[in-house]
Amino acid sequence: MTEHWAIDIGSRNRARRSAEQPQDRGRRGRLRVLFVSSEIFPLAKTGGLADVSASLPGALAGQGIEPLLLMPGYPCALDTAVNKRVVYELREFSHLGDARIVAGWTPDTGLPVWLFDCPALFDRKGGLYQDEQGCDWPDNALRFGTFCRAVAAMAANWLPDVVHLNDWQTGLAALYLAHAQGPKPATLFTIHNMAFQGIFPREATAELDLPPSAYEADGIEYFGKVSFLKAGLRYCDRLTTVSPTYAREILTPECGFGLEGLLQARQSDLSGILNGIDDGLWNPQTDPYLPRTFTARDLSGKHMCKAALQRELGLKPNPEAPLVAFASRFTGQKMVDCIPKLVPTLMAAGAQLAVLGEGDRATEAELAALQREWPGRIAVRIGHDEGAAHRVHAGADIVLAPARFEPCGLVQMYAMRYGALPVVRAVGGLADTVVDANAANIENGTACGFAFTEASAEAMIACVARALGMWRQSITWRRMQSRAMAREFGWARSGTSYIELYRGLTNIPAETRVEEPIEAEPAQVALGTP
Ligand code: ADP
Ligand code: GLC
Repeated sequence: MTEHWAIDIGSRNRARRSAEQPQDRGRRGRLRVLFVSSEIFPLAKTGGLADVSASLPGALAGQGIEPLLLMPGYPCALDTAVNKRVVYELREFSHLGDARIVAGWTPDTGLPVWLFDCPALFDRKGGLYQDEQGCDWPDNALRFGTFCRAVAAMAANWLPDVVHLNDWQTGLAALYLAHAQGPKPATLFTIHNMAFQGIFPREATAELDLPPSAYEADGIEYFGKVSFLKAGLRYCDRLTTVSPTYAREILTPECGFGLEGLLQARQSDLSGILNGIDDGLWNPQTDPYLPRTFTARDLSGKHMCKAALQRELGLKPNPEAPLVAFASRFTGQKMVDCIPKLVPTLMAAGAQLAVLGEGDRATEAELAALQREWPGRIAVRIGHDEGAAHRVHAGADIVLAPARFEPCGLVQMYAMRYGALPVVRAVGGLADTVVDANAANIENGTACGFAFTEASAEAMIACVARALGMWRQSITWRRMQSRAMAREFGWARSGTSYIELYRGLTNIPAETRVEEPIEAEPAQVALGTP
């Protein structure tokens, strides 16, 4: 493999850091973690990956961890990051023309971020992964493969203790780092969804300078093609996924998508750590997106949010109608194809249905037709709208989060925090976060939602019918709502698990840790000469 991606932009720093002993790093006080993701809220988002890629590093900053985020420089990300400046021009980086690293901050949350600004790859109209018609960008292998080369180059500059990679878009960085010269950071790969693998024909990687051995079965070969996800699983030191149940499920053919054998072989390096949520951003007591805030003790604001949501979506103003919501990507994973089958049950029960999302075009059309058929009873908003998602959770009585598989799921946690009880299929992180309202759980006071087991429309419909029946029992419902709103879904526990994992990877005992103030701005991030 040629090494021209490994631009020597930090030899001064490298010399300094490579001379450090682990105990020096401990004295320095913090572990440097380069946190790499293809989406980070609020810079760019298609789903929960973006939320976790902001809230996890945010929770760890100041706890002995010094995070630096790194992501592609999509136009939306470059527009949204604040206090930006070019910190490195990547001349002769590739044949793709100019590229640079822009350093900035996430607005409000104030996390330092590096954006890989390569206009030939990322400056275009459309989505992060798809064009305006919903088709994958034909050059995704080059887009994210080149991004991964930039990750390895910048790791050679900033010299993190740990490079934390997330999902297939970052997988090849593990391969580049494994083949790089000199001192290497420890690497951790988090699987957010095994269903997205970044599979490409081998030819699509021709410009990525991969070593020949990478194309073998022991490398990233995947049924005659290549899998970027496999690179992360194969070359990182440790692996995590986003819930304990999903960590077990991905060892089976049903959820392993052909990589269960590799995962079984690496089982001792794999752990399931339940995602947390940003409980500051998703807080019904302070949420600026809501027309009225509320608490578990005083739900009057929630009743007003319901009335406001009905007005906003063109639903009949009616506090007596249970408001059932679905706010999600329209994909088979989320059983969105089963939502239309639920309509007769909902309408017969006098309920209203609010849908927010985008994705599968046939489902979008089918849902829009149902809205026309049931004016004032069904509202469908196609598109991605962060504020609307907050208002839907605040205004809804019941939130639907069915799934054929669900690595973690954040929606059910947001729903509970906003006093809407979730209906989920008991898989992955849904099973780890929702306690079903069966007789025993209602009796012992742990029930906080409704769960079904079979992946069928019938099972989901029966579960929703059960939830609607319970909604009419206002005292029991109120108790479950209070219980749901009191659940702790923040990063306190899982954040500690990540810190332990990082320290284990770098062998730095926590007791040698000396807290230092967080550096004021990324100017102090060790940079070579720009
Ligand atoms: P996944 O990442 O599989 O889509 P999660 O439950 O982990 O599922 O996270 C989904 C995230 O995306 C949540 O923050 C949810 O509010 C958000 N979301 C999904 N669809 C929309 C939409 N149409 N508009 C705004 N936010 C959305
Ligand atoms: C993926 C998964 C979802 C998870 C999210 C964040 O998008 O589908 O279950 O909550 O990543 O980890």
